[in-house]
Amino acid sequence: MSNTKLNAAKSAIELIPKKGAIGLGSGSTVAIFAEELGRRISEGEVEISVVPSSYQAYQLAVLYKIPLTNLDIDPELLLTIDGADEVDKDLNLTKGGGGALFQEKVVASASKKLVIIVDESKLVDRLATRFPIPVEVLPFSLGVVRRKIEAMGITPKIREAQRKIGPVVTDNGNFILDLQFPEPIQNPTKIAVDLKMIPGIVETGLFVNMTNEVHVGTEENAYILKK
Ligand code: 5RP
Repeated sequence: MSNTKLNAAKSAIELIPKKGAIGLGSGSTVAIFAEELGRRISEGEVEISVVPSSYQAYQLAVLYKIPLTNLDIDPELLLTIDGADEVDKDLNLTKGGGGALFQEKVVASASKKLVIIVDESKLVDRLATRFPIPVEVLPFSLGVVRRKIEAMGITPKIREAQRKIGPVVTDNGNFILDLQFPEPIQNPTKIAVDLKMIPGIVETGLFVNMTNEVHVGTEENAYILKK
């Protein structure tokens, strides 16, 4: 099995404070991180509670016996550790491969520091190179949102569920549209704002100017990209 995700997770775990509340992102790399965090908590090395960013993250916390908190009790988090689908050279991100982008963004926005754990395959010059940009859409508004996105020259594709007929329904009861751009995007800030202006788009998977550090795992070790 590849060590790249493990090495990214091990690198980021060194940033965990001795005590306090942090955000727990979602995805397979975060799952590896959560196992190590659970071990450190059970051995008494740290006293950490987490705000989970999805049902998956909640289940990971339960599995690894990581104490849970929420944004009402802890509206300011020391940091969040999360994965990403693409990372550009300014450390802007595409997220939402697992459909958890909305809560992931809320948790990241509550954090003093956002630390991303990825392998090198996620690094790109510009976003939307290999991965479409997902947006979370209120089901009531699907038709009109689709039409407005198409008018921008972007192709929206509804994300279909696996092992269930019909669309993916997010943890918030919404749908996901995966947006295929004609070419990698030049100005993620503008695209993020333009998309958020469309009523019915609850959130986008573009995380612009939010990341502080990216820990990139390789087979041998990890290196850190900073702004
Ligand atoms: C889920 C996400 C994940 O963080 C992203 O898809 C990366 O996942 P993985 O670590 O499994 O590659 O944004 O919505």
